[in-house]
Amino acid sequence: MSALYEVNNVTLDLAGPAASGLQRLLPGNAPRLTILSGLSLTIGHGEMLGLVGESGSGKSTLARAMMGLIDITDGRLSFQNRTLESRADFIRVRQGAALMFQDAVASLSPRRKVGAQLVEPFQINGVPLPEGGKTAMTMLERVGLPPSLAQRYPHELSGGQARRVSVARALALQPKLVIADEPTAGLDVSVQAEILNLMTGLRRDMGLSFLIITHNLAVVRHVTDRVAVLYLGRMVEWGPTREVFARPRHPYTQSLVAAEPQADPRKRRADLALKGEIPSVLARPTGCEFHTRCPLARPRCAAEEPRPRMITPDHMVRCHFAEDTKTETQGGNHGTELEH
Ligand SMILES: Nc1ncnc2c1ncn2[C@@H]1O[C@H](COP(=O)(O)OP(=O)(O)OP(=O)(O)O)[C@@H](O)[C@H]1O
Ligand code: SF4
Ligand SMILES: [Mg+2]
Repeated sequence: MSALYEVNNVTLDLAGPAASGLQRLLPGNAPRLTILSGLSLTIGHGEMLGLVGESGSGKSTLARAMMGLIDITDGRLSFQNRTLESRADFIRVRQGAALMFQDAVASLSPRRKVGAQLVEPFQINGVPLPEGGKTAMTMLERVGLPPSLAQRYPHELSGGQARRVSVARALALQPKLVIADEPTAGLDVSVQAEILNLMTGLRRDMGLSFLIITHNLAVVRHVTDRVAVLYLGRMVEWGPTREVFARPRHPYTQSLVAAEPQADPRKRRADLALKGEIPSVLARPTGCEFHTRCPLARPRCAAEEPRPRMITPDHMVRCHFAEDTKTETQGGNHGTELEH
């Protein structure tokens, strides 16, 4: 599968909290926070890639960087085999890729009717409307919503309808890639399934690629081809979804998979349960950044940063002991219901 979007060794630093006292007066001394660190991934044509990790792991930041809404500090982004360097390059990306924001209702303006907001991507990008006034209706139809919804305000929509409107808006400029940030969050299980069916249908019918960002492993399991696992803005495991879920090799992935709801609670692996909270990017642990919570940590882990290791040609794990961490999880629980 050839690459549609490539993220190559990307690091992204943001300005940290304001320096205090004397620090404030010293030039070039503003603290910087590393939010993404040496991150690489590819999204193929027609591929669905999942991106998972706890809150604060940098998923939305990566999505925003890929759209050029926030600048990367180092590394390279490329779309359709062209490196993204200038403003014009990112304008091209915003026509060929669309971002569905994390909160569907909040991403819509409360005072404008749905119909007007659906055609906004044309106005924002200076693209002429293809079919005049019919466009909003056509867009609603494509996502299975009645044309009458064009006259409603966002607060009059159900959660599922608001998500469908986000999908419709994302499709306005006929993108090749949709980045969907938490597309099923806050929805009932049946509505989650409807939204996922809509997205897999669009992939099948239009050959669209998707980057699906979610906390919900069941979503990833159901619809994605490959999955990337982020911890503190760094990729710790990456590979084919089926393989990663059946045999997760990074202790962090093992903990995430073990925390999934099980039909039979006796199958839960207490030994793999995640301890404590994700550390702050203000105080990144030394060595392997997961060592403060890792059930398998050894002295070497706090001292030395693990390098990525390829378990198979398409399965990467960043752990010193990747060879020793073979764990058959209950990752085969394909019957697990979707839930958030
Ligand atoms: N504008 C900003 N200034 C400073 N820090 C930020 C900024 N935006 C995000 N961060 C920090 O970057 C880290 C990653 O945030 P991000 O929103 O990308 O995480 P996420 O994985 O999307 O989390 P969630 O699952 O809660 O949506 C967090 O530690 C967050 O506090
Ligand atoms: S390197 Fe050590 S702390 Fe990090 S995941 Fe592997 S075993 Fe755990
Ligand atoms: Mg987020």
